[in-house]
Amino acid sequence: MNKNSSDVFHGSLHKKYQYVDHAKGVFVYDTDGNRYIDCAAGVAVANIGHGVQDVLEAINEQAKKCTYAYGATFTSAIGEELATRIISVSPVGMKRVFFCSGGSEAVESMIKIARQYQVEAGRPSKYKIISRWQSYHGNTLATLSLGGRPSWRRIYEPLLMRMPHIAQCNCYRCPYNLNYPSCKLTCAEELERVIKYEGEETVAAFILEPIIGTTATATVPPDGYLKRIREICDKYNVLLCCDEVITGLGRSGKAFAVDHFQVTPDLICVAKGLGGGYVPIGSVIAHEKVVNLFEKGSGALVHSYTFSGMPIVCAGANAVLKYTLENDLIDRAAVFGKIFLKKLREALLDLPMVGDVRGIGMLFGVELVENKITKTPYLPSYNISGKIADYCFNHGVIILAGVTGTADGVEGEALQISPPLIMEEKEWDAAINVLKDAVIHVHNNIS
Ligand SMILES: Cc1ncc(COP(=O)(O)O)c(C=O)c1O
Repeated sequence: MNKNSSDVFHGSLHKKYQYVDHAKGVFVYDTDGNRYIDCAAGVAVANIGHGVQDVLEAINEQAKKCTYAYGATFTSAIGEELATRIISVSPVGMKRVFFCSGGSEAVESMIKIARQYQVEAGRPSKYKIISRWQSYHGNTLATLSLGGRPSWRRIYEPLLMRMPHIAQCNCYRCPYNLNYPSCKLTCAEELERVIKYEGEETVAAFILEPIIGTTATATVPPDGYLKRIREICDKYNVLLCCDEVITGLGRSGKAFAVDHFQVTPDLICVAKGLGGGYVPIGSVIAHEKVVNLFEKGSGALVHSYTFSGMPIVCAGANAVLKYTLENDLIDRAAVFGKIFLKKLREALLDLPMVGDVRGIGMLFGVELVENKITKTPYLPSYNISGKIADYCFNHGVIILAGVTGTADGVEGEALQISPPLIMEEKEWDAAINVLKDAVIHVHNNIS
């Protein structure tokens, strides 16, 4: 049944893709009978694992009642329940949830809400969104404009919005060549400098991934960074928007990555783990500061989508979150994440090519370098991370390559490892043995 050619416009037009057959727990099976340990959870999506019966049943039950109702005409009990459940795990003060269909839509909705907030607040000249280099916020034109991955922006550059970017916060590769804490958080202070340069009357919001996902996987800011960012935002009436599309709802070992830093954003967006791979969904969670102003002001959100809050989608996401909470998967991610990171470090850190092994919760990054002392990366043409990921795939383990530009936006590579939060030690051990072999094999065969 597998065709030799494809009518699908795949990401790679030359690769021969395996056909997925079924998936259960942390395993994915293809139609040739191969089994893979899913150490990527798809792409940090399948947080509760594949094929959870409770979720399938919840979707089925809702499907029998009503799959779709237009959000401007109806709300639904299941949509309301999901919003309440999301708020119950969100930072104190978060008040309402806007639903959409994925991460890019969520980010785009978040920055539109930020812009409308400034208009409602009587500051209509505030429209710019400051973001960071070496970040990823999605692939629509607006979200790509905010993202800081040059290789993905380059060909679309003429179509992008001109928005200011500041340097990333990454102590392994400090953009200022400084060391924490003597750096005095120069990378955070840069935000204030750029707000002043741009004109505070023009800046609506600052967006960041509190813990970096796909562009420098699992890079965690040092103590004080987010607090300082929060102070600067407050000083200039700039909304703090946190992109937690990857980290939101458990992956970092807390419900939200911001919970590690005792900082409350004005807006948070989530997506991947919210639907868990069962339904396509994203959300913006808005703080009461924002919601109250809308309520007192125009009373209307000038933004909507056809598929916002579809009952069948909400049923899936609600069951995923319920399952996450009932099975303590967020705490599990914190506890097992520490064990897994220790094992990953023990297996890899001494190998050639491995510059850094980092992680928080169930999000891990392995930075690959040609020289471990100077941290000089391999030329992108070697495709080191791609070769390692391919080796792993061919030996039954899914990890992700494609974390590129970690050194200077263009050069530098890392692997992304983001297993389901239910991963057991047995599978983890098996997977990192394969990964270790892969690193050694690729290193010995560099050409
Ligand atoms: C931090 C972050 N924001 C936004 C997105 C975009 O999400 P989507 O691919 O669902 O549009 C991603 C996807 O990887 C992401 O990691």
